[in-house]
Amino acid sequence: MSENTFLQQEVSRRQLPPLLKMNDGRTCTHSLWKERRAEILDILQKNIYGYTPKAPEKVTGEIIEQARERAFAGKVNQQKIFVTFDTPNGKFGFPFYLFLPRSIPKAPLFLLINFRPDIPDVYCPVEEITDNGFALAIIYYKDVVNDNLHGDYSDGLGKIFIGNRKRRPDEWGKIGMWAYAASRVLDYLLTREEIDHRHVAVVGHSRLGKTALWCAAQDERFFMGISNNSGIGGAAIAKHSTGERVIDFIKAGSWDWFCEKFKEYSGYEDISMPYDQHFVLAAIAPRYICVGSAELDKGADPKSEFLSCVAASEVYKLLGYKGIITPDKYPEVGTSLHEGEIGYHIRKGHHYFSRYDWNQYMRFMRKKIQDENC
Ligand code: GCU
Repeated sequence: MSENTFLQQEVSRRQLPPLLKMNDGRTCTHSLWKERRAEILDILQKNIYGYTPKAPEKVTGEIIEQARERAFAGKVNQQKIFVTFDTPNGKFGFPFYLFLPRSIPKAPLFLLINFRPDIPDVYCPVEEITDNGFALAIIYYKDVVNDNLHGDYSDGLGKIFIGNRKRRPDEWGKIGMWAYAASRVLDYLLTREEIDHRHVAVVGHSRLGKTALWCAAQDERFFMGISNNSGIGGAAIAKHSTGERVIDFIKAGSWDWFCEKFKEYSGYEDISMPYDQHFVLAAIAPRYICVGSAELDKGADPKSEFLSCVAASEVYKLLGYKGIITPDKYPEVGTSLHEGEIGYHIRKGHHYFSRYDWNQYMRFMRKKIQDENC
């Protein structure tokens, strides 16, 4: 710890709940980590995202659209697939797009949870990504449950699991549902031999960056979780942050992304929250994480996004890894820190999923796959 004195002080100032103190007061050791991770996931479910129902036994996928041979100049096999699975209240299914670069027999893949159904989309340069040797799967998040705010659970997984009744305090919210859907797509992707099953990253921007992290935290089959400008409820430490507060989610109606219990922390986030977002990053350890911030994204609070990377590194170190590798200062705009298991960059500009961000994530992913093969 002493190697990062300034940053460790910045972390201490936030008065974070300790990652490595077990619920019964013991100090978490390497061999206790599995148990501690389960505690952390439980704390996060109970207090912020709600409990995730168990995974279905079987997920099936049907190709419902096959693009023409010449799609993307013939370089890419583009399909639309409908995945279906059982829930306690009947079958549920939704479509997603799959893009497989024909020149790579087993391509590593980015699974993007996206805001729009457009192909290509402003947030997703399909051809550039596939040209870089990556496969891509894209879920349109409203195919899973609407985002009408204020507790509208009238369609998709919302209707299946909640509908019109009042939620229990620890029942899941929409972030949980979108994350669950991404795991169901992964269930299917793992049956496709054109994909490198060991190297699948889940990625999202903003509320869907919160979702991608929560998904990777729970589902250990993901090689990497990528958060673009995810802010509070995502990568950013909430305690003593300058970003959004619980009251902002309550006012906007976006409290329904979280569980009901989350609302109780309004006004108390600096005092009584038994978790903070470094718990989410730590639950991904020792797998890879890449966090992207934007200088002018005040709501997401870039400093707090960076500090949770520093705080979560404690777990990586316990497990014999490094976490984030950084000089002992806040990164300047234009910096990319890609040496450790936790990557971070901060770019100029506003809240947005830009080409710059995608280039960072592709670079980080490529580097980590190469490092593994060394
Ligand atoms: C709002 C919200 C943020 C969220 C963002 C987004 O600004 O308050 O928490 O990240 O929307 O998803 O675009």
